[in-house]
Amino acid sequence: VTRALQGTLAIPDFQRFKQGVKEIFEQVREKELGGSVAKYIPQLASVDPNLFAVSFCSIDGQRFNLGDADVDFSIQSCSKPITYSIALEEQGAAKVHSHVGKEPSGQSFNHMSLLVKRKLPHNPMINAGAIMTSSLIQVGMPLYKRFGKVTEIWSELFGGKKVGFNNSVYLSEKDTADRNYALAYMMKEAGAFPENTNLYESLEFYFQCCSLEASTDKMAILAATYANGGICPITNTHVFDPSTVRNCISLMASCGMYDYSGEWNFQVGLPAKSGVGGAIWVVVPNVGGFCCYSPPVDELGNSTKGLEFFKMLSERYAFHMM
Ligand code: DON
Repeated sequence: VTRALQGTLAIPDFQRFKQGVKEIFEQVREKELGGSVAKYIPQLASVDPNLFAVSFCSIDGQRFNLGDADVDFSIQSCSKPITYSIALEEQGAAKVHSHVGKEPSGQSFNHMSLLVKRKLPHNPMINAGAIMTSSLIQVGMPLYKRFGKVTEIWSELFGGKKVGFNNSVYLSEKDTADRNYALAYMMKEAGAFPENTNLYESLEFYFQCCSLEASTDKMAILAATYANGGICPITNTHVFDPSTVRNCISLMASCGMYDYSGEWNFQVGLPAKSGVGGAIWVVVPNVGGFCCYSPPVDELGNSTKGLEFFKMLSERYAFHMM
């Protein structure tokens, strides 16, 4: 309210901004951009490919929703920055990064490779790195407590709204997770995990975090919390320290879009994270957060409509940070 009265809102003419974004949304909706819904997790194959939504929340808590913004979708890899942030808060950056690197892998999200110098996963934004950060949360606690803690934090990031969990997605992911098991064994063989890590529990926990569900409406609030240095703009709750946010969005910028991260930085220039469910969430530091959802993804696992939407957004508005 103070900022509104002082005329210092991050987006002074919010209605005009909404109208501009809506025009882009409508243009992208009409485009035939290819891609197909992810099928390697069987339960994701049955999602309606025509769903399309964009939500935005500013750091002042001003919001708008376009399209199917209240439909819950599978969060998948969009959970990776949150898992990494929680690990940072609990263990500190030095400890976390003694188990996971900060380098783009230059490979697909589930590629079987480790850093050359130290045998660690490349970064927390790919499967191997997220399995690793999952092993660093609520260490020594039973799985129900670890999962409970994580969902509590998600709810804070959503301004008090609840995060969903899709049990069939979880069971279907677990049933078809040979690659993730292989990644975990590769890291175990390299001695990358913290001592006493229970490999199966870390994988279970990772599958559960990928099987969380939310709408773009909620994910935009989460993105805005990162844009606002870790304080939720809806509730003013301090969720993460500014240093956690800084570390996390740095790695989202360099590694958040898998082997498209360089091209993304070139064209869009904003910290982002995509998931094979079809969502991409994007942080515009000190301005706000976006989430776009459209299930068809390209061969790298990024939503085709999502890529186009953010490319056009960055062409129209001066958000590019690089
Ligand atoms: O582990 C997996 O393969 C999925 N649960 C997550 C992959 C994902 O979302 C990568 N996305 N682009």
